[in-house]
Amino acid sequence: MSTVAKFKRIFSGIQPTGFPHLGNYLGAIRSWVKLQEQCDDVIYSVVDLHALTVPQDPLQLRDNIRNLTICLLACGVDPDKSIVFQQSKVLQHTGLYWLLSCRTPSSKLNTQTQWKTKSRTAQVGTPPLGLYSYPVLMAADILLYKASHVPVGDDQIQHLELTRDLAKSFNKLYGNVFPIPRPILGNVPRLRNLRYPDQKMSKSGEDSGRINLTDSPDIIRKKIRRSVTDSINAVTYDPASRPGISNLVETYAALQDSTVEKVCTAFSGKQTVDLKDKLVDLLVAHLIPIQRKMDQLSNDMTYVDNVLYDGCNKASNIAVVNYTEIEAVVGIS
Ligand code: AMP
Ligand code: TRP
Repeated sequence: MSTVAKFKRIFSGIQPTGFPHLGNYLGAIRSWVKLQEQCDDVIYSVVDLHALTVPQDPLQLRDNIRNLTICLLACGVDPDKSIVFQQSKVLQHTGLYWLLSCRTPSSKLNTQTQWKTKSRTAQVGTPPLGLYSYPVLMAADILLYKASHVPVGDDQIQHLELTRDLAKSFNKLYGNVFPIPRPILGNVPRLRNLRYPDQKMSKSGEDSGRINLTDSPDIIRKKIRRSVTDSINAVTYDPASRPGISNLVETYAALQDSTVEKVCTAFSGKQTVDLKDKLVDLLVAHLIPIQRKMDQLSNDMTYVDNVLYDGCNKASNIAVVNYTEIEAVVGIS
């Protein structure tokens, strides 16, 4: 395996909320798969404790944890190359979360964009403490493993900045405990909602606005064919004035590991429908093998549970050593 030395240890997490869509795949999961080839020490977590910051149906959450694991494996996350585990099963995450909480100025949490938007839309009563302190749990996830690099979407950069600040403040007080983690930013822009290209593709909202990784070829065709573009019947890239077609161009480029310029050149003189049809073919070719693998894994839950069990053991081995050191420096050993 070729190892890029600059990535000492990679850690990332994904929430088991609903089933992943094409945005999650191109924006996050696919880069996780690629990073396994560039680093020998890779840890990926299904962050179920994070999912609990908003109300969850217990049976649904249980299914979501397994389905997300199946999805990660089907997309190519390889348990022989990466540690894959369920966050709540490694108890040191919450221990470190508390220790870091005690060093987190609330003024820093007040300014987190995600808190500001999510707390405004909280369903009942005042927003819960967990939603407020969520970035501290994310910092604990990363620092517990002394990760050097963290692949994240741009929406998580602010949380990673807080993680870096907390690591520095902890180190200042207790000596050099944590490396300062750096982000690895993907190069895929946010995929847009197919029906409302001014919004991003997300797990919530109308199904017709996203491509789910489980969508059949027929559904993919319908969704892409009906995706909102504009009255200009040509393939060009201009996200500000032509968000719909630009989103399809971006998706096409991302699937082909190409650039929007190359896609526009390839489709110059062609019509919108030509791009849509080719995009359907490309999506089907990408997703069918993943779906086959997902079906296979769904019929072998013992294997999936074993992956999580082994992952928990491997993650715990690292977490216990690091947490013991942290307890000692803090004075609670
Ligand atoms: P979420 O579905 O919000 O839990 O997102 C998990 C990760 O998937 C995010 O951190 C992003 O990296 C990625 N992601 C989510 N939605 C999109 C999107 N529309 N386009 C690209 N990446 C996305
Ligand atoms: N907050 C991230 C998200 O919503 C998920 C996450 C939790 C994470 N802990 C993490 C990502 C640690 C990277 C590293 O997408």
